[in-house]
Amino acid sequence: MNTSITGRAIAGGILSLSTVNIRDFAEEKRKGRVDDYPYGGGAGMVMQAEPVYRAICAVKAERPAARVIYLDPQGKVFDQEMARELSREEDLIFLCGHYEGIDERVLEEAVTDHVSIGDYVLTGGELPAMVMMDTIARLVPGVLNNEDSSVLESFEDHLLEYPQYTRPEVWNGKAVPEILLSGHHANVEAWRRQQSIRRTLERRPDLLEKAELTKKDRQYLEELPEEKLANPEDIC
Ligand code: ADE
Repeated sequence: MNTSITGRAIAGGILSLSTVNIRDFAEEKRKGRVDDYPYGGGAGMVMQAEPVYRAICAVKAERPAARVIYLDPQGKVFDQEMARELSREEDLIFLCGHYEGIDERVLEEAVTDHVSIGDYVLTGGELPAMVMMDTIARLVPGVLNNEDSSVLESFEDHLLEYPQYTRPEVWNGKAVPEILLSGHHANVEAWRRQQSIRRTLERRPDLLEKAELTKKDRQYLEELPEEKLANPEDIC
């Protein structure tokens, strides 16, 4: 988080981030251990309620209104819309579990949101928390140089982004689409819109259902020939 775009935002005071080690809230006699055997038996260890509770309370003493997000493969699946909503919050607490999970009682007591980053299981909540923080951070005003660039992107309108090109004009025998060199802003915009629609149809047709398409967009979509997908055997 201290590098690149998020690093610049932190250095500039737009964002701040601090971490709390739950082990520091372990019972004295357990010397930093916060896991224990599961009641009822079974494999793995479970994080105890009390150290987790104390860690959350320590953070909440400073940030009483903060939502507590538990990174949890059983949670609601994170997406751009959730990121946008969370980017409006002043403070967020990310609770990262390890082992087989956290004692259910403290989750009931303290967690406001259960969030998954996808249907697969990681060993802990730290990477999911970083995925969420990075996604949310770039939506906070002032974090990106050009505020528009977070609006005109994939997923915000349920369409994928159009393709981008930079110099040289011809690479490996492939020329940049001519329209992009025309300097005709309206034509470029129309072309990009069509590319977005076409890409979404090819790569993520499931998204199109939610996209807000104009009459012109729909017409373009209907006239698109069915794309032949590249056959890997044809390529090299
Ligand atoms: N912890 C383990 N797997 C996870 C996932 N997919 N999303 C969020 N937290 C997790």
